[in-house]
Amino acid sequence: MKVLVIGGGGREHAICWALGRSARVTEVVCAPGNAGIAEGARGNGRPVRCAPVVVGDLAAMVAVVEAERPALTVVGPELPLSLGLVDELMRRGFRVFGPTQAAAQLETSKSFAKEFMRLHGIPTAGYAVCTSLDEVRQELPRFSVPVVVKADGLAAGKGVVICQTHLQAEQAAAEMFSGVLLGVTETYVVIEEFLDGEEVSFFALCDGKHAVALAAAQDHKRVGEGDSGPNTGGMGAYTGDGLLSAEMEQWLLKNVAQVVVDEMAIERTPFHGILFCGMMMVPGQNGTTQPMVLEFNTRFGDPETQAILMRLETDIVDLFEAAIDGSADRLEIRMRPGASVCVIAASGGYPGKYVSGLPIGGLDSVGDADVVVFHSGTAMKDGAIVTAGGRVLGVTAVSRAALPAGTSVLQDALGKAYAALGGISFEGMQYRRDIGWRALRDGL
Ligand code: AMP
Ligand code: GLY
Repeated sequence: MKVLVIGGGGREHAICWALGRSARVTEVVCAPGNAGIAEGARGNGRPVRCAPVVVGDLAAMVAVVEAERPALTVVGPELPLSLGLVDELMRRGFRVFGPTQAAAQLETSKSFAKEFMRLHGIPTAGYAVCTSLDEVRQELPRFSVPVVVKADGLAAGKGVVICQTHLQAEQAAAEMFSGVLLGVTETYVVIEEFLDGEEVSFFALCDGKHAVALAAAQDHKRVGEGDSGPNTGGMGAYTGDGLLSAEMEQWLLKNVAQVVVDEMAIERTPFHGILFCGMMMVPGQNGTTQPMVLEFNTRFGDPETQAILMRLETDIVDLFEAAIDGSADRLEIRMRPGASVCVIAASGGYPGKYVSGLPIGGLDSVGDADVVVFHSGTAMKDGAIVTAGGRVLGVTAVSRAALPAGTSVLQDALGKAYAALGGISFEGMQYRRDIGWRALRDGL
């Protein structure tokens, strides 16, 4: 079958790569894709035809699907979901993986998500939804510091400010209402209780009726080692057996993901697609853990997906079809045992200002079958691959199938990823050398 993927980052490269391994797929098209997607991951992936499109342009995305007429369309990023691409394609009779605009509100509106969680008893931080600065001033005294201020809409990781004083919180809210912070004015600002704990991303595949566990991962959002410096889209992620206990995974499925699926179905906005639960594991009494939802995303994470899909053994088309057809409960999701890791190589200066168009050396130096270099922001210039974004590459490795007893599976995957990174370079390239430090500390 022919499959079309919407998007052009590392996540979409990993999806195209997984589709390339499917026995059922004869052709993959990616719109817009990037230079690495077009080439196919070196030594370990098929080339993919890329079709130009602007991801924010609904009519243009629909036109690409109409022109290509794929048997299946997979929507990678959140922006097309927020614009109603899935709804529009379904109206035209296409099979498409991803939630409708109404269902994607779990991600696209923080106030919607918070009210939904409160109404249906999903554990989350205490909050207030405010529509004016006066309201913010009225509500703030109920919150101790630090306090979290969040813009309602999509903000590419820039819509959350952790404030040490109420005055700072007022200022952050004022900048969100006025548009100074994000370039768009917010109608709603959410004030939220600060939670202290460890973050875990839990991914469930949902088919409108059932939620099934796909994987858990941990992202590294800060640019600097030791989780210092400003937030980014994600500087690295890992996944592995034992990141969540079987009991915790069941708890999250039953008390978070399945509740979302059940209640969205009752509301007649059934949720089909990936539910990405951003969790904070808050230490409770007597050594217990209280998982709290920080946010929902309604799509695969980037860079979590690069790491997760390298371990996926089930045909990815089976996952997509089960989510569309309502048969996820009959799906067996098999993951390669062990661990995997994705380390992002970013442009110098990212997440601030950076230059693009720099040649990337050493892409051919990677000869390990357990390593794939996924491209996040690259382009082809004069026959060479150059940088074209803040996040440039996601060097992804999976631990060896058979390891000597006592070897850390995560350490093994990390060793492979960092060895591959050592052979790759571009001017100003930066990457974190401590991806997975928490899990290593915990003995994964
Ligand atoms: P979000 O977009 O809601 O996931 O927030 C982005 C990041 O801000 C999260 O990954 C957390 O690191 C942090 N964050 C968000 N909400 C809270 C909270 N209530 N308490 C502590 N940290 C938070
Ligand atoms: N890695 C975080 C995200 O995809 O939102």
